[in-house]
Amino acid sequence: MENRNRYENLFLIGFSGSGKSSVGKLLAKKLKFNFLDTDIKIEANLNMKINEIITRKGEDYFRKMETECLNEINYDSKMVISTGGGIPTIKENLKIMNHFGIMIWLNSTIKTIIRRLEKSKEIRPLLGEKISENEITSLFEQREKYYQLAKFSIKTDNKNLNSITEEIKNKLSKLNN
Ligand code: S3P
Repeated sequence: MENRNRYENLFLIGFSGSGKSSVGKLLAKKLKFNFLDTDIKIEANLNMKINEIITRKGEDYFRKMETECLNEINYDSKMVISTGGGIPTIKENLKIMNHFGIMIWLNSTIKTIIRRLEKSKEIRPLLGEKISENEITSLFEQREKYYQLAKFSIKTDNKNLNSITEEIKNKLSKLNN
């Protein structure tokens, strides 16, 4: 696969609770790009909640759906895509994302992740029913090397959506120059 214009599609990657969906929506609005959230698209495709897909059909099946979802997106219009936390752990997904755009890592500390997940109503079956610092830390450590493959990263702790999206815009304008 030859790379297309690399900065036309932005894939937000990072652990659950790092702000991918909220940042993605605002960033898309500011850049006048379209917005897509892979979890929401998968739920719509299968007419099932993510939690149900993973518990009833298994993680491997869900991972296949994620790759299918990335393959189905129409990349001809400029897009900001918020991805599920496990997407960059699959080689094929990395290939697709690097082909159609760039990955931006929204990086949060474990402390922030836990605080956000405790507030969230969403059930994340891979993180267990009760938020455990040990489990989150161990999964985060397994995933970090994939998140580090991003073109650049933004620390999201204690920052509001506006400053995070402005930081991303600044970094993007430097890349484009
Ligand atoms: C997952 C993260 C979730 C969702 C699914 C699996 C993961 O998305 O895709 O529950 O493997 O980390 P968020 O990162 O939006 O929470």
